[in-house]
Amino acid sequence: MSRLPESLNELQTIFDRWSESIQHYKDMEKRIFYIGKEMPALLLNHRLFKKILTNIVKGQRYPDARQATMFTNEFILFINTKRLFSVRLYIYEPGQYTPVHDHNSWGVYGCVHNRIEVIRYRREDDETRPGYARLREIEGPVLQPGQTASVLPLNDGIHKAGNPAGKTSVMLCVYGTPIRRLYVNQYEHLQNRVSRLYPPRLRKKMLASQALDTMETN
Ligand SMILES: [Fe+2]
Repeated sequence: MSRLPESLNELQTIFDRWSESIQHYKDMEKRIFYIGKEMPALLLNHRLFKKILTNIVKGQRYPDARQATMFTNEFILFINTKRLFSVRLYIYEPGQYTPVHDHNSWGVYGCVHNRIEVIRYRREDDETRPGYARLREIEGPVLQPGQTASVLPLNDGIHKAGNPAGKTSVMLCVYGTPIRRLYVNQYEHLQNRVSRLYPPRLRKKMLASQALDTMETN
């Protein structure tokens, strides 16, 4: 995705600037630092977020609410053409949290509206038992509007995010280049379980392929 609608030129200018700058930083840490420094001004631009949210309500083409995403409360705002970063918006109802999960890239989480909590976990088992994972909760910063928190890829960034507040919250996330793994891990922390979560399109293909296999053996 490279061109946003003209009415959102201001947002396009920001993403263009990030695209230009981020390619000069080769390390993950420097990219996280750059985005963490850039994000607060955008997070506090509520006029711009109101435009984006109004577009969603009106069913405008941008952001495309029909685009298949891992989570149902997720809206893709931008994908850099070189896959150096993507920007996504999340809307959480009061008390709503994602499952505990990891990512295939680094991420910077920012609070736009109300409160966002990012709870981090450390994996403590040796990963030898399929489907089994033992996690320990390590910290849970609660972000106020304009504040950010970063997560690292894979086991270094196991977390859940959500809304500890009594009103709807809005979060903006920037993710880095994903590594080549087709799924993310999803954890049931209290049951010590881990399973693979595939992107919706791939999940549908896998289901159809499984159905075909059983039809052929019947
Ligand atoms: Fe996440």
